[in-house]
Amino acid sequence: MTATATTDWQRWQTSWDRQQEWYMPDREERFRVMLDTVEAVAGPTPRVLDLACGTGSISDRLLRRLPGADSTCVDIDPALVTIARGHFADDDRVTFVEADVTDPAWTERLPHASYDAVVTATALHWLDTEPLRSLYGGLAGLLREGGVFLNADHMHDGSAPRINAALQALLTRRKEEQRQRGALDWADWWHAVARDPSLADAAARRFALLGDPRQPPAPDAARRDRPVLTRWHIETLLEQGFTEARQVWCSASDALVAALR
Ligand SMILES: C[S@@+](CC[C@H](N)C(=O)[O-])C[C@H]1O[C@@H](n2cnc3c(N)ncnc32)[C@H](O)[C@@H]1O
Repeated sequence: MTATATTDWQRWQTSWDRQQEWYMPDREERFRVMLDTVEAVAGPTPRVLDLACGTGSISDRLLRRLPGADSTCVDIDPALVTIARGHFADDDRVTFVEADVTDPAWTERLPHASYDAVVTATALHWLDTEPLRSLYGGLAGLLREGGVFLNADHMHDGSAPRINAALQALLTRRKEEQRQRGALDWADWWHAVARDPSLADAAARRFALLGDPRQPPAPDAARRDRPVLTRWHIETLLEQGFTEARQVWCSASDALVAALR
């Protein structure tokens, strides 16, 4: 029997979305503005690269909104890709590539040489400054002229620290309240994944490859060299071959940056 027949992939997709929304209550709004920008720049039938797709939440919204689009979903995590494959089973608009986007050869595994849009969310903060700079240069090479890159992630405007702190404090209070009411965090969610027999093998591969998220993060994890300012992303995109770039949305914790090739 295939894994697709043994578990409810839609339930896993929904549970992933709820877990992510606990961290980012504005996540759907962020996707909406992202896809507004894709549609505005690339039209109703774009060829899209969903970079570090996870369970495929962006592609899910993309294909509901623009049924004539197609999506290449790339991610390194075997467990999340297993859920995404189950969720999009039989949808020939979606292609999957399991790859590490910091590997210099990752683009060679893509089914297309050029894209109308590259989209990514809550992912690139996992990369340190220099690998991210180099990835931005590579993405400029993957987009057609006039194509658009959109990165929604944890980043902020450093010029207003008291406003940022006040908004973060409100977000933290709300998260604590939701936790009291049973919201799953990252570690809880992975415990649940590892308990599903249809996902246990993929979860074990994930834990071996990327670490076990059920355990507390390593003490040095917060000290890595990772860009946190929206301005860094805008300036680096311009430096790496994009012709214009700006923030198109922000919340207490996140911003969405758009850049044109
Ligand atoms: C928090 S998830 C976000 C997934 C999805 N974009 C969403 O918004 O639901 C971050 C994703 O980035 C992926 N990722 C992190 N580093 C990566 C790398 N070097 N190559 C490919 N994927 C990576 C992780 O495996 C994970 O699926």
